[in-house]
Amino acid sequence: MSPSTDERVTKLSVFEKAALQSGENTWQTRPVERLGVRSLFLSDGPHGIRKQAGTGDHLGLNASLPSTCFPTAATIANSWDVGLAHQVGKALGEEASALGVDVILGPGLNIKRSPLGGRSFEYFSEDPYLSGKLAAQYVMGIQGEGVAACPKHYAANSQETNRMTNNSVVDMQTLREVYLTGFEIVVREAKPLMFMTSYNLINGTYTNQNALLVKDILRDEWGFDGAVVTDWGGGDQAPWAAEVGGGFEMPSPGFGSVPTLVQAVRQGSLSERALDERVSELFSVIDRIPKPEASGHFDVEAHNELAREAAAQSVVLLRNEKSILPLRSGTKVALVGDFAETPRYQGAGSSLVNPTRLVSAVTAVAETDLEMVGYARGFTRDGKPSQELVDEALKLTGTADVTLLYMGLDELSETEGADRSCMNVPDNQVRLLEALADAGRRVVVVFSAGSATTMPWLDRCEALVHGYLSGQAGAPAMFDVLTGAVNPSGRLAETYPLALEDTSTAGNFPALGKNAEYREGPYVGYRYTESINAPVLFPFGFGLGYASFSYSDAEVGERGISVTVTNVGDRDGTETVQVYVGRDQHERTGIIRPARTLAGFLKVTLKAGESARVSVAFDEYTFRHFCVNAGKWQVEAGLFEVFVGPNVRDARSVGICSVGEGTNTGEGVSVVDNALFERMSVVQPDPNSLLGLENYASGDVKKVDRDEWMRLLDNPSALMPTPEGPLTIESSLSDMARADSSLARFVWRRMEGMLRKSEAKGVPDLNLLFLSSMPFRSIFKMSGGMANEAMVESILLIVNGHFFRGTGQLIGRFFKNNRAQKRMRQEFANLAGNQSQTNH
Ligand code: BGC
Repeated sequence: MSPSTDERVTKLSVFEKAALQSGENTWQTRPVERLGVRSLFLSDGPHGIRKQAGTGDHLGLNASLPSTCFPTAATIANSWDVGLAHQVGKALGEEASALGVDVILGPGLNIKRSPLGGRSFEYFSEDPYLSGKLAAQYVMGIQGEGVAACPKHYAANSQETNRMTNNSVVDMQTLREVYLTGFEIVVREAKPLMFMTSYNLINGTYTNQNALLVKDILRDEWGFDGAVVTDWGGGDQAPWAAEVGGGFEMPSPGFGSVPTLVQAVRQGSLSERALDERVSELFSVIDRIPKPEASGHFDVEAHNELAREAAAQSVVLLRNEKSILPLRSGTKVALVGDFAETPRYQGAGSSLVNPTRLVSAVTAVAETDLEMVGYARGFTRDGKPSQELVDEALKLTGTADVTLLYMGLDELSETEGADRSCMNVPDNQVRLLEALADAGRRVVVVFSAGSATTMPWLDRCEALVHGYLSGQAGAPAMFDVLTGAVNPSGRLAETYPLALEDTSTAGNFPALGKNAEYREGPYVGYRYTESINAPVLFPFGFGLGYASFSYSDAEVGERGISVTVTNVGDRDGTETVQVYVGRDQHERTGIIRPARTLAGFLKVTLKAGESARVSVAFDEYTFRHFCVNAGKWQVEAGLFEVFVGPNVRDARSVGICSVGEGTNTGEGVSVVDNALFERMSVVQPDPNSLLGLENYASGDVKKVDRDEWMRLLDNPSALMPTPEGPLTIESSLSDMARADSSLARFVWRRMEGMLRKSEAKGVPDLNLLFLSSMPFRSIFKMSGGMANEAMVESILLIVNGHFFRGTGQLIGRFFKNNRAQKRMRQEFANLAGNQSQTNH
């Protein structure tokens, strides 16, 4: 669904319209001053504004302006608090406007397919419903301030390894139910003005030019009417993308894609109407947001307070033996661990924010009424063992009542551009914990990491509080929880397996070749563990508090469930009531459906001894499944079981409800209101459709062999051949390792060496990480016009061993392109009546 072509577009030449399909520079769109169309400024990123002060360079060699660093999405997701997500979105919108930013590139809501995903810290959850509900609030908060939001990365962008060339091979039911539903909720509920497609391909087609994804689903089915932008450098074939509803390329390929688009219109492979629609969409985004005030001022203090509140509400208490927490006033505490002095509070990559302030635990403890006996570093972030540091910590902690040990993952372990290689916490930290525990210290672990880790050492500490990546005010927020000023109420938005082997993607993630095979189907996270009852360290939704709650008198009605929740503890506290549904076990079914899926949740704050009746409504997402044969959402008639409780594993069965008219209902079975199914049809179960899919039916997906997966996938052309032979425009720079040219192999070895060097320093080099997974095509897409496709082909000649021919060609093409770019730049400026040159 596109806005009708606007008047102004009819006044543009094809050349101008083609030029409006790409950015002016790293962050801005092209203006058309004669029509009063201004340029938009786009900035990262999901948990703070990263507006670069000087010349934009994508991954941030130039520092960005200070802005509030809020907790990352993975952290706020633990709050399960839609109101909080809205508040943070609103603050982000305010800051964007103050800093002159029109579009925030976020929120990011990819599904955490594996705990090893390098960007897990930037995404909400393994569950699409929770992700979608929270992301929708961010979008509403941001857009309420007159700034456009740009949810990303649409879709199935689950791994960082080869992220720009990887093909996600995923069956249609799983794609719809797991990887697209969150985006659907955001579009339907929050109407974002922009949408960013991901780098990867899905079933053989780049997402930005994937007609099914962009045209059929995003625009036609969900009603998105804004502009779709590529991820940075992720454009491929501009005419094709424009035809199907995507195609707006960022950052800037200069005028490189313009001749191709113009020619495609002339030859008829791109309809001018489609090009008009794309331009109208961009103009309509500009029309729907006011020019940012760019005052440079926002309420730094109030936003810092909000960041603190958000961090405190998102802390998850995972262990509290002998009620060691909360700490009583006057408790003598020793602070140990490198993270206590140099906090780990955000992830590395395009989301990296330059915070307005940053307080460490060592400083924040002074604000509390705890007695600090001292700080010892205890370990270094690089994982190297040091007995000296351990001894120092042992010495210090001898005089304390409680040792606060700050553990977690370091910057290198969680970064955009690379996946994690394991789920462990570095060994030197574990050794330190063991030494402290052996010496009889009472240890409270304060943990920082943006994704799930294993914790075989858990019983060596008395308590563990997980702050995730808690933003600039995370340290004081953590003391709010440790001292009991705030009662911890965070609940994990992802499953913590006992070991990596217990995850459904183990051994299959990240994919190193061309294809990422989503063989586990819909069994991601708890959808897997609960279906096969796998052991877990902490189930999805888990979290303790200083209060405890009981559930009683649950009732399943035609539109939802209600239950009485009582605070049976002696302190006030907050509970997150979670509702799950599953097919009644004794029912005939013809669909693959995990044992439990999250259907709703609600937070309730109760005084000690207080009770409340809590209602959670069913909605159109509760019972539906995607029927691949019909190509539609449907509901299978029959009985569903409803579970309610404090986490997915402890949610108790509270009743059966029946869906669809004519279903056999017994006593106590409530009939779900048919009005919920207005957008879909109710079908009768057909168990035959599960023939040959037995392991998918049971959820035991580790037993799935290639044949069974192929049956589910039902689309052999989704798999792409492994690239071999000479390198092509689609090969990534790292493929130079196997290039014919010794020069190319040498260049790659140098790059690799530089990467290793940066790793040894403990700081990820984002530009190098980016370059190594970048395809040759992106040299042209990201060069701002310095290179065009023809030049990249000459570079490939060199890489493939034809040094002299390639170099000669390259030099000629360089000058030719230079002249052409200048000419087109001038032509566009003249036609568009642009006086001012944007210079970021
Ligand atoms: C990231 C996006 C980001 C963009 C602009 C890309 O590399 O994947 O999330 O918004 O860069 O910085």
